[in-house]
Amino acid sequence: MGEMKKILLQDGRCLVIREACVQDAEKLLAYVKKIAGETDYITFAPEEFHVTLEQEIAKIEEYAQTDNQLILVAEIGEEIVGNLDFRGGKYSRTAHAGEFGLSVLKDYWGLSIGKHLLRYLIDWAKKTGKVRKINLRVRVDNERAIRLYQRLGFVIEGTLKREFYVGGRFIDSYLMGLCVDPK
Ligand SMILES: CC(C)(COP(=O)(O)OP(=O)(O)OC[C@H]1O[C@@H](n2cnc3c(N)ncnc32)[C@H](O)[C@@H]1OP(=O)(O)O)[C@@H](O)C(=O)NCCC(=O)NCCS
Repeated sequence: MGEMKKILLQDGRCLVIREACVQDAEKLLAYVKKIAGETDYITFAPEEFHVTLEQEIAKIEEYAQTDNQLILVAEIGEEIVGNLDFRGGKYSRTAHAGEFGLSVLKDYWGLSIGKHLLRYLIDWAKKTGKVRKINLRVRVDNERAIRLYQRLGFVIEGTLKREFYVGGRFIDSYLMGLCVDPK
């Protein structure tokens, strides 16, 4: 189990960032359902999310057994307010690279919670000595997220045409990436 980070937010509340454990499974599922209903910048709608408690527990256990995968939760008090999920490749030729998804509950946007989750990921990746490339996909109109990624050093590496279909129209995505060198 990795480090737990405590951060004082600009509004005075204490944010905790830590790796998810199996006890978080139920809360995490409820969190993902909620965020799916709050934004269409993620890939699925709440009614399309069918992960069971058993599947979620199995996933958390599987991630904990690997050194190139990470599930983070951001908590304020008892509530999960943000989540980051990084999945590295399975085989020796791709294990150094992986892709992540990131979200923060809408009520908590703009408090730097996304930035702190991402910083944790980058620090962790450096410490693994194994993860050398972090990738992500983001809708080209998701300015808030793109700005956050660019501030932390991610660069746009390409455009994926028609990656999203929302409200009757296609939307492109950027592929963004960060090369990681060990500490
Ligand atoms: C993207 C997301 C994770 C950002 O989380 P967050 O905690 O609000 O992010 P932060 O507060 O750390 O940083 C957001 C940055 O965007 C800026 N920002 C705020 N509103 C903005 C807007 N309307 N347009 C552009 N940038 C904006 C903030 O000022 C901040 O940059 P700054 O520190 O340079 O000022 C969050 O908005 C979210 O969950 N969105 C829905 C899901 C999603 O889009 N996930 C990413 C999919 S790839």
